[in-house]
Amino acid sequence: VKPSPYGEKIYEGKAKILYRTPKGTLVHYFKDSATAFNAEKKQEFSGKGENNVRLSGLLFEYLHSKGIRSHFLKALDERSFESLDLKMLPVEVVVRNILAGSLAKRLKEQEGRVLNPPLCEFYLKSDEKGDPLVSDDILIALYGQSATDLSKLKILALQVNESLKSIFDKAGITLADFKLEFGKTPHGDIVLADEISPDTCRLWDKVTGEKLDKDRFRFDLGDLMTGYREISDRVEKVLRG
Ligand code: TMP
Repeated sequence: VKPSPYGEKIYEGKAKILYRTPKGTLVHYFKDSATAFNAEKKQEFSGKGENNVRLSGLLFEYLHSKGIRSHFLKALDERSFESLDLKMLPVEVVVRNILAGSLAKRLKEQEGRVLNPPLCEFYLKSDEKGDPLVSDDILIALYGQSATDLSKLKILALQVNESLKSIFDKAGITLADFKLEFGKTPHGDIVLADEISPDTCRLWDKVTGEKLDKDRFRFDLGDLMTGYREISDRVEKVLRG
């Protein structure tokens, strides 16, 4: 293991490495690897880590300005940011504005239909089980979640959706769907965590419909980094002028 300037390495996932700093915060180091279909497909993309740190930072700071708390503290360098160390909930919260991806497949409907109101779904965070779709009741009966926390997750996720939809719209991008993760502070507050990037969102050009996100890699739709950079550059322009 190579020595880290950030602290003790505590976890390595498919796209990130986590370190715990001496002061008790976390450092998220973004790798250049992309995986899809539970890591059946894997490839390195030079610049991806840097790009996703940049976009996540911009979006977390924008959400803070809208009164939505997250674990994000500050960018440390091109490849990493510092965050609070939250107790993560084992739930992937997916919000969908437009029918696409696994839901379109499951319903055997063509993607692109507007979902009104937006949907909020829970998936169990477990690579081993392939992140299965679960109901509130399943999360309560089997996975230690409370009904109160699950309603808070839905309210927060839909608030995040309203803010993100608006900023992407100004950038000429349709936010079709995305995945969020949340954690708890020692006080028991539920706070947005993880990342918000083209790895975890479906983002389509508003005019041409071109897919700019990780579906480019999943379905070989074109150069990944061209889409990723287009998203970050446009969002940065809207936020920073
Ligand atoms: P899905 O349509 O495949 O269920 O994906 C819904 C959204 O969640 C999509 O924007 C991509 C994102 N997502 C992740 O961030 N991680 C995952 O492991 C999966 C399957 C989807």
